[in-house]
Amino acid sequence: LQADPCNIVIFGASGDLTRRKLLPALARMHHWNLLAPNSRIIGVMRDPSWHAERWQSYVHASLEEFHPDSINDDASWQSISTMLELTIGDLTDASMYQRLRENMKSSNGRTNALFYLAIPPQWYESAVSALHQSGLLDESDGFRRIVIEKPFGSDLESACALNLTFREYVKESQVYRIDHYLGKEGVQNLMVFRFANTVFEPLWNRNYIDHVQISVSETIGVEYRADYYEKAGALVDMIQSHLIQVMTLVAMEAPVSLDGNAIRDEKVKVLKSVRAIPSDQVDRFAVRAQYAGGTIDGKRVPAYRDEPDVDPASTAETFAALKLYIDNWRWQDVPFLLRTGKRLPERVSEIAIRFKQPPKNLFAHIKEHLPQNELVFRLHPEEGMIFLLNAKQPGLNDQLHKLALDAPYAMTGSDSPEAYETLLHDALLGETALFSRADEVEESWRIVAPVMEAWKQPGSIRFYEAGSSDIPDIDTIMEGCIGCWRDLSTVYQHGYT
Ligand code: BG6
Repeated sequence: LQADPCNIVIFGASGDLTRRKLLPALARMHHWNLLAPNSRIIGVMRDPSWHAERWQSYVHASLEEFHPDSINDDASWQSISTMLELTIGDLTDASMYQRLRENMKSSNGRTNALFYLAIPPQWYESAVSALHQSGLLDESDGFRRIVIEKPFGSDLESACALNLTFREYVKESQVYRIDHYLGKEGVQNLMVFRFANTVFEPLWNRNYIDHVQISVSETIGVEYRADYYEKAGALVDMIQSHLIQVMTLVAMEAPVSLDGNAIRDEKVKVLKSVRAIPSDQVDRFAVRAQYAGGTIDGKRVPAYRDEPDVDPASTAETFAALKLYIDNWRWQDVPFLLRTGKRLPERVSEIAIRFKQPPKNLFAHIKEHLPQNELVFRLHPEEGMIFLLNAKQPGLNDQLHKLALDAPYAMTGSDSPEAYETLLHDALLGETALFSRADEVEESWRIVAPVMEAWKQPGSIRFYEAGSSDIPDIDTIMEGCIGCWRDLSTVYQHGYT
């Protein structure tokens, strides 16, 4: 579906997000004819040494590095390059917005604009208030939308304050808060899987599900982002946003329709039902650790504390795990275990639903404990679903084996969109379902607040070796759950395992 012609205005156009994610996503959308030909990609930057040719070569270099296919012939690059415009000036300077307005083109009497704030969050307020004052958020001659990146605030208080500020200048319906996990195909498939099928719905509750494990394991370290990560840590960087968002999609009730607000209403109900973690018992519900030096893919890697720009005595966690309960009829007393970490042995993201055991083990003479039935949605490395069952091994024996019904999600050779492509496309179409609403963001800060508070207290952080999944104390939050943490290194093949 092609979006209406639009001025896609990127504040912070010379930044890393623009180069790595936004430009490649826009180029792919252009390739698939999802951008109207008379749309504009307007880069906004402060540095006066930029000029039109430099912007053109910057975009070219970024596509060459991150999406070479989009410019593999001259015609493709020509048509992308005619969309490029540049506005130089400071975010706080009213005359910059005047120049920006002149650069924005109208089409059929409408001047649509999507303002993407790819700038540090401390500049959000200045940018939005200046856009408002310059009249650029007035929707009388076209839509005007603002896309912002996480983090939305740095705690509950600042997130509420930021939402209040936005409310002064724009309607909630004009604000698109990106959580790129919601743009992942595998995450969107969760909704389809749950609500376009009937088989699992009767089982999708506390009567049949023992617990849910949501895991995002990364091999990369902090990279070049110490400045941000030192303040955030894994809890804020990943759990407050991505993992809690994924949890709401697993847990929510069927929405009345696929309308953005209908879906977000259901997600907010889940978030509001999450039991507050008692501030004096955080250790029972949360575990944190930091990577020490170690080996990843056969290469030595430094400890977090030895990474560039990291405080040598830093207590920022690079691994965090949380146990949450959703106090409602469907999920009462079912633990939702969320874990994420950097410098772990493999890059895997998945959602695993672990079912309860049969009431009596008739096969106790063969296996004392039956392996649990599990339904796993794999987001990475290969999107797909795996259902783990117990089956009899064929032949004259009485052995039981685990049967993995493996359904890769993508068809061979299919070209799944990148999360940013899906999200930018939706923002242009005015589809809000995959963006977090103000109340969702506030609720997820509320959930992590007691843990953030407890982890601020001086205390010692535990360490794990980079490249190892041996996290100190990680089993404490498994208490009461059947089985153990899933071993993310296990790759299930079709058939018996
Ligand atoms: C980002 C975090 O939001 O998500 C990063 O800030 C993290 O620290 C990244 O590496 C993970 O995303 P993905 O899509 O690679 O799983």
